[in-house]
Amino acid sequence: MTVQPVPSAAAPSPDFESPDDVARAFAEHGYIADRRLATTTFVMSRLAKPLLLEGPAGVGKTELAKTLAAATGRRLLRLQCYEGQDETKALYEWDYGKQLLYTQILRDKAAELLQDTDSLADAVDKIAGADSAFFNERFLAPRPLLEAVRSEEPVVLLVDEVDRADEALEAVLLEMLAEYQVSVPEIGTFVAKYAPYVVLTSNNTRDLSAALKRRCLHLFLEYPDADRELEILRSKDTGLDDAAAQRLVQIVRGLRGLDLRKAPSISETIDWARTLAVLGVSELDAQVLGDTVSVVAKYERDVQRSREALPRLVDPNATVPASLDHGHPHGPGHTHAHGSHTHGGHTHDHDHEDDGPRVRAAKDTPGRHDDSFGARGGPADAPAAPREVRSGQGARSFAANRGGARRRPV
Ligand SMILES: Nc1ncnc2c1ncn2[C@@H]1O[C@H](COP(=O)(O)OP(=O)(O)OP(=O)(O)O)[C@@H](O)[C@H]1O
Ligand SMILES: [Mg+2]
Repeated sequence: MTVQPVPSAAAPSPDFESPDDVARAFAEHGYIADRRLATTTFVMSRLAKPLLLEGPAGVGKTELAKTLAAATGRRLLRLQCYEGQDETKALYEWDYGKQLLYTQILRDKAAELLQDTDSLADAVDKIAGADSAFFNERFLAPRPLLEAVRSEEPVVLLVDEVDRADEALEAVLLEMLAEYQVSVPEIGTFVAKYAPYVVLTSNNTRDLSAALKRRCLHLFLEYPDADRELEILRSKDTGLDDAAAQRLVQIVRGLRGLDLRKAPSISETIDWARTLAVLGVSELDAQVLGDTVSVVAKYERDVQRSREALPRLVDPNATVPASLDHGHPHGPGHTHAHGSHTHGGHTHDHDHEDDGPRVRAAKDTPGRHDDSFGARGGPADAPAAPREVRSGQGARSFAANRGGARRRPV
């Protein structure tokens, strides 16, 4: 039995010398980290604490874990969370097929064992005495959490989209996150030889428990600033020339400033740059951007709104199409989110598009969010004209994600 009695230790030797070292190593693997991210990753590597990454879709949460594995040469183990997932898919399960096969092969041996027994009860007692032969490591089918703990080498464990998992699974994670250990009642407790780097990601479709948050370092990933986004674009060899890439970054930032249901992410900026490069575009005009905007806008309403705003984003002197105005005043206290209006904590749906979040929304029970949720459910007084993205835009769009889930009629 390879149960490790010793408490988990940090990595054999430090992986990073400093936050700068993290940024450099990540850049070598194509991930452009800002100072905050590099510092948090460095601290995480030294404290051997799990890192919880929250933020809107496509801002590099999953990619960070992959890059961490690549930069440290550690094996990446990934637990992709989903609704209804139980611990047998996260921790371990008994390999019944193998147990059955062994019993078939050992049939004669079992008959020998039972030949002196007179009654069924005696036979059952005798079989029970041989339990440990079948409930030992040989018949254990490890899943990512146990695999991470049993690994002889340090690993990176990615628990991706933990907010999609049920709360019961979240509870299962707690022991692992606090102690880097997994208990198997029939065998004992496995303790990691080396503390794994654990990265959890969340799109915030539901609140995570305080117990989980408490055990983790926390980092909210937002959309990058223009310089970093341009740097990311450059690192991806999109084929778009540099001047056009700079313009594109500004235009995407302008789109993020609109009241879109799903703001364009970094990955979508990259896709857009590649699309324009394939089309041989070097001059960005409203026409070609409008024709290709569905690369970044994923809802019909967003496509419409983006197309309307593009002339203005390409040329700030262009006239704003009348359809962007909604014909009613935006007074104080009136939270305006186009698709939904929030009045005194009640959200009224004005938009009946069907979408993926409906599925997530089903598990988003009312009352889970804090009081400020309603206010954050939609951007504060979105002006008719596109505005430049402000710091915190990621947070607002992220909150809107929750709002999207919340405002679905039941
Ligand atoms: N800082 C970065 N440096 C380089 N590439 C990045 C960075 N951030 C994001 N990307 C690019 O964006 C893509 C999407 O990132 P990723 O899949 O990690 O997003 P995510 O935050 O996990 O999104 P989701 O919540 O939808 O899973 C990556 O494949 C990568 O190409
Ligand atoms: Mg991801």
